[in-house]
Amino acid sequence: MRKTLTVGLGVLASCVAWAGPISASPAESSDTVRVLVIYHSDTGHTRALAEAVAEGARAVPGAQVVLKTVQEAGNADLEACDALLIGTPTFWGSVATPVKQFIDGQRPFMGDKVGGAFATGGSDGGGKELAVLAVLTAMLNNGMIVAGPHYEEDGFRFGGFGATATTGKDSPGMDEAELARGRALGERVARVAQRYR
Ligand SMILES: Cc1cc2nc3c(=O)[nH]c(=O)nc-3n(C[C@H](O)[C@H](O)[C@H](O)COP(=O)(O)O)c2cc1C
Repeated sequence: MRKTLTVGLGVLASCVAWAGPISASPAESSDTVRVLVIYHSDTGHTRALAEAVAEGARAVPGAQVVLKTVQEAGNADLEACDALLIGTPTFWGSVATPVKQFIDGQRPFMGDKVGGAFATGGSDGGGKELAVLAVLTAMLNNGMIVAGPHYEEDGFRFGGFGATATTGKDSPGMDEAELARGRALGERVARVAQRYR
C-alpha cells in the first residue's frame, strides 16, 4: 500500500513538473517584449545609430533586444519578434540596396507587430526621411503598426517619423543629439509593442 502511494505521488509530481507554466519560459513575464533591430552599414554610421536604438529599447523593463545586420537576420528572427526596427543608409534619397533586398525577400506576414525606422545620410536635405518613410511604407504594406519617437520643444509635444543622422560634411559623424534620437525611437517602439502585447 505504502509502495503504491509512493509511486502514485511520484507520478503526480512528475506530471506537475512536466505541465509547468504553459504561458512562457522562465525568463519571460507579462512585461516581456522582443525587439529586433536590424540594419545595413558600409562605413559604420548606421551601425552606431542602430546601437543607440537598441540601447533605448533595452531601457524598457522586460525588453529582450536582438541587434543584427540584414545579412544576419532571417525569417525566424522576424517571426519571433514583437517589434522590428530597420535602419538604412540613404542611397539616392531612398533605402540602401541591401536593405531593399532584405525587405523584398521572401518574408513572413508581420501583421500587428510594431515597426520603426531610422536612417543616416551624408547631407542635410539628402533624403534621410524619405528613406525612413520608404521603410515605414513597406512595414504598413506588411500589416505592421508603425511608431516614431515623441519629443518636446518649448513646452509643446510632437511625434517624429523615426530617427535620422547627418554624417557628411554638413555635420560629420554621429553627434550626441542624433544618438539620443535613436535611443528615443528604440524606447518608444519597445513601449508601444509592450502595451499592444
Ligand atoms: C551609393 C550611395 C548613395 C548615397 N546617396 C545619398 C543620398 O541620396 N543622400 C544622402 O544624404 N547621402 C547619401 N549617401 C551617403 C550615405 O547615406 C551616408 O554616408 C551614410 O551615413 C552611410 O552610412 P554607413 O556609414 O552606415 O554606411 C550615399 C552613399 C552612397 C554610397
